[in-house]
Amino acid sequence: MNSRPDRTACQTCTHDQWMPSRRSFLATTGIALSTVALGDLFPGRVLAQDEASEVTLANYPRQPVGRVSALEPDVPVVIAYPEQVAHNAAMLVRLGVPAGGGVGEGQDIVAFSTRCTHMGGDLANEYHAQYKVAGPCREHLTTFDLTRHGMVVSGHATQSLPQLVLQIEGDEIYATGIIGLLFGHHAAPTSPTTEV
Ligand code: FES
Repeated sequence: MNSRPDRTACQTCTHDQWMPSRRSFLATTGIALSTVALGDLFPGRVLAQDEASEVTLANYPRQPVGRVSALEPDVPVVIAYPEQVAHNAAMLVRLGVPAGGGVGEGQDIVAFSTRCTHMGGDLANEYHAQYKVAGPCREHLTTFDLTRHGMVVSGHATQSLPQLVLQIEGDEIYATGIIGLLFGHHAAPTSPTTEV
């Protein structure tokens, strides 16, 4: 008899860890999941090579994650979003150059998960200002371009780094959702829309 019928084994790691199924996670958090084009999310600010891309967008309750006035260029701030997800560590950073999904006057404020999409390596201290990248990951050297929606530059990962959807009101920065799947959730990023 299965005592945990609503859970599935994590298939991205070898240790004995159980992850909530996508259906049960969505049911308990009340989020809406959909498949969208990057161009719909960031009209006019999507780099050419991404315009045809479809990504999974999960909308979460809007939460404040930082203040514009408190951000120094190229100094990442560790945040957590959304709170109810176990693997929710992220970095909020002002890149100093326009970025896909960037907010603020310079469209240069972005936020990304700090869990590598390959096997969950910690990228919290791996931001490199010279290249505006996260990585190389210390596990298997994947590097992600933070100016281009976290796309993989090199290394073993095949999925972009999940990017937080940000809004600005006055000096306050809010997160409203996540593009891409956080590490530990193994459903395909382009899976069918709206499973709640
Ligand atoms: S865990 Fe980051 S490259 Fe493997």
